[in-house]
Amino acid sequence: MSVGIDEISFYTSNYFLDLRTLAQAQETDPDKYYVGIGQEKMGMAAPDEDIVTMAANAAMPLVETVGSDRIGTMLFATETGIDQSKAAGVYVHRLLGLQPNCRVVELKQACYSATAALQMACALVARQPESKVLVVASDVARYDLGTPGEATQGCGAVAMMITANPRLVEIDPEVGSYTEDVMDFWRPNYRSTALVDGKYSTKIYLKSLKRAWEHFREASPLAFGDFSHFCYHLPFGRMAQKAHQHLAKLNKSPLGSEQLERQIEDSLLYNRAIGNSYTASMYIGLASLLENGRQDLTGRRIGFFSYGSGCVAEFFSGRVVEGYERCLHRDAHWRMLEARQEVSHEEYLELYRYPDPRDGDHLEIPHSTTGRFRLAAISHHKREYVVC
Ligand code: HMG
Repeated sequence: MSVGIDEISFYTSNYFLDLRTLAQAQETDPDKYYVGIGQEKMGMAAPDEDIVTMAANAAMPLVETVGSDRIGTMLFATETGIDQSKAAGVYVHRLLGLQPNCRVVELKQACYSATAALQMACALVARQPESKVLVVASDVARYDLGTPGEATQGCGAVAMMITANPRLVEIDPEVGSYTEDVMDFWRPNYRSTALVDGKYSTKIYLKSLKRAWEHFREASPLAFGDFSHFCYHLPFGRMAQKAHQHLAKLNKSPLGSEQLERQIEDSLLYNRAIGNSYTASMYIGLASLLENGRQDLTGRRIGFFSYGSGCVAEFFSGRVVEGYERCLHRDAHWRMLEARQEVSHEEYLELYRYPDPRDGDHLEIPHSTTGRFRLAAISHHKREYVVC
């Protein structure tokens, strides 16, 4: 029996800022963003959107496929938590009408926690092959205005159904892990934006890749040349390109730069238009590869490198299943991306500065998302989500 990803779907806000607009406002060369970091647009969450509404939107098509009564566990990965106590997934459980015996829990370790959720889901399914585990990862990436991180903001959610004999990608049991206590990127509880030592974070990312890969090689018979494609954690596209060149060099790969680029380029398309979605980003990269791959991926091995600042990293592998292309949501994803509304620099600042809804006896939030779910109000410190 194999275990892995049976279906995948993602969601992002209906607003985006073109990085050319940001560059113009900052009097910077737009190529610094379009070429230098490899990003074109970044998603901006509407005031009535958050990790819950984005996650529910991402997961809804999967729940429609399997039925709301078939899901035994939902694991919700995020680093944009909305409550110190209650798991965000519990709201999603209600919005999606999941059955009451479905357990729900939230996981955190920066961008890595979606991979922890995936591995835990695979273990649960291996123990109970008839069970279906919904993994959701949802985040809003925010940095201070005027900092180098500003151009690498974004928002998005991904949902994956983990089952036995999956229809998309079988996940291999061998993993390579790496953990080190470092301060490259962090967000104390009293801040809504992350603090980051940008250049240091890219160095630690590459160091973790090396160490996780070495650990993976101790456990797995697979070598660099056995992989046809790679999905990396995607804070910005150029980071994946650097990481892939780094890994190829470590392995003394004979592949030239164009061949190496072909192993990752299809995984970068969606991220270039969404920006960093933290926990969701590598898996939106997987959706991008499966849905936009220029060749038939059947039977191909994919290498995954998941990185979460702080830091925990993991290298693992998967094999694409025959018939995978019949189980994708490609058209819906492109329709969603193409229907988004571009915002001006002033509108971007308005969205950015929209006060975090905190309190009030009753605070109504204006309706601006085009998604199926929205945060309608906060009343007596309780978040009120509705189906539109
Ligand atoms: P910066 O320091 O302003 O940028 O921000 P730079 O000056 O290093 O330029 C970036 C690249 O653009 C350089 O290329 C320049 O040469 C090039 P490189 O040397 O890297 O190959 N460039 C140009 N290219 C063409 N035309 C031009 C031009 N000008 C410059 N005119 C930095 C870069 C990464 C520091 C910043 O974006 C940042 O702080 N980002 C946030 C942190 C981040 O994303 N780190 C990534 C690793 S950590 C991670 O992935 C975890 C994370 O997702 C969080 C989590 O785990 O929860 C962040």
